[in-house]
Amino acid sequence: MKKNARKSERNPTLRSRLLRLVLVPLSLILLIDIVGSYFVVRHVANDVYDVELNEIAREMLLHVTHNKGEMGFDLAPEAERTLLLDKEDQVYYAIRTMDGNLIAGDPTLPVQTVIKSGKDTAYYDGVLQGQSVRVALLRGQPLLHPATELVMIQVAETQVKRDRHERALLIQLILPQVLLILIAGILIWRGVAHGLAPLRKLQQEVGMRSHLDLSPIAADNVPGEVEPLVGAVNDLMTRVDAVLGFQGRFIADTAHQLRTPVAGLKAHIELALRENDLTQVKRALGHLYTSAERLSRLVSQLLSLARNEPNNVAVNFAPFDLNQLALRAAQEWVPLAYKKQIDLGFDTAGQPVLLNGEAARVTEMINNLVDNAIRYTPPGGRVTVHVRQDEHAHLIVSDDGARIPVEERTRIFERFHRLLGSHEEGSGLGLAIVHEIATLHNASITLEDDVDGVGNTFTVSFPVSHAPG
Ligand SMILES: Nc1ncnc2c1ncn2[C@@H]1O[C@H](COP(=O)(O)OP(=O)(O)OP(=O)(O)O)[C@@H](O)[C@H]1O
Ligand SMILES: [Mg+2]
Repeated sequence: MKKNARKSERNPTLRSRLLRLVLVPLSLILLIDIVGSYFVVRHVANDVYDVELNEIAREMLLHVTHNKGEMGFDLAPEAERTLLLDKEDQVYYAIRTMDGNLIAGDPTLPVQTVIKSGKDTAYYDGVLQGQSVRVALLRGQPLLHPATELVMIQVAETQVKRDRHERALLIQLILPQVLLILIAGILIWRGVAHGLAPLRKLQQEVGMRSHLDLSPIAADNVPGEVEPLVGAVNDLMTRVDAVLGFQGRFIADTAHQLRTPVAGLKAHIELALRENDLTQVKRALGHLYTSAERLSRLVSQLLSLARNEPNNVAVNFAPFDLNQLALRAAQEWVPLAYKKQIDLGFDTAGQPVLLNGEAARVTEMINNLVDNAIRYTPPGGRVTVHVRQDEHAHLIVSDDGARIPVEERTRIFERFHRLLGSHEEGSGLGLAIVHEIATLHNASITLEDDVDGVGNTFTVSFPVSHAPG
């Protein structure tokens, strides 16, 4: 359920993100442009028609009369109709004295006598009988009676043709821009689809792959931005391939190694089953026990090898004292050494040797080295565990066993590799485990002839942790 719910909330696509990023600002710019254009267009429309209103007002000024102190207006009705005639708009006028007294015209036209100083004409928007009108206001002296006082002439016109003109201009200006945005949207939509086509091909390729095919993905045609991602995936596949290879070989080797002891167990059981003599049965059971013990050691070494595989484990480092740890581990081996008449000694560093690592894993490493030293040293020999510190912390295990030939000194760290001619029991995993644990701790291992000329010396050198104090 949860999985489906998550699937339905898809991440926003690159396409929708790009469209949003480009089209939203473009639309905002268009909006600002529309508002700006509206004012420009209105201004242009007014300029054209205002001149006409002004001309009507000036024409009227010619017909203002002055007779015996009385202002009048003398324009034949026919001439007035012609003057005010317009196909679309209604035209009104009012002629007033400077005191606001109506000489002629429409009394409902609101009185307006203020004009910016220095000018004789003003234009403004107003309302007449509920309709919006554009008004030209002219202040002048009646031209035929220059001695008389000034008059104010208002010519008002409804705005039908201005509005129409304005709409036509706006559409002409804005339509191409809206089209441009639409085209940009379509181009982005198609462009992104085109740009992402190699990714879709890549997806199909990866989708059709067998889970066994971990070869690198070809990054030939993918966009440059995606190349690092493909590189990282390829890198991951290489590492997964290495781990899978290791695991495959490990399982094969393990099955092979387990087959022999299991066959031995079966043989001993069959033998015991065939015997009627209790003493013989007991002897067979004794062999069975030894075989089972050997098998049990093999299994625990295998588990240990898997537990310490550097690619598979998460390590939990903490500081500890290598000197004390090695002493404790060595002490555990005293009873066995005593039984084998081996002189097991511990050479202390004389002071704590602080290491950063996993104490349990390092103990396991020491156990494997001491186990080998005791196992491959003949009775009467000496085994010594030293801890020393210089720029590194050294754990040294030297023994009196048979000298390991130089050409074998690398191979003995491989899994299941044992030296020919050794009659000791063993599964060939101890040193492989030591190697893994050293790798986990960034430590190096060297194997040399023992300084006293007899036996071998294994030295594990750890980087030192710089603990305070
Ligand atoms: N201290 C040593 N002296 C002489 N030979 C050694 C010593 N340590 C290891 N070897 C040789 O190296 C081989 C590999 O050692 P390793 O510890 O890996 O396996 P093992 O001892 O045979 O088995 P395991 O430790 O898994 O039970 C041994 O079989 C032995 O031949
Ligand atoms: Mg061993």
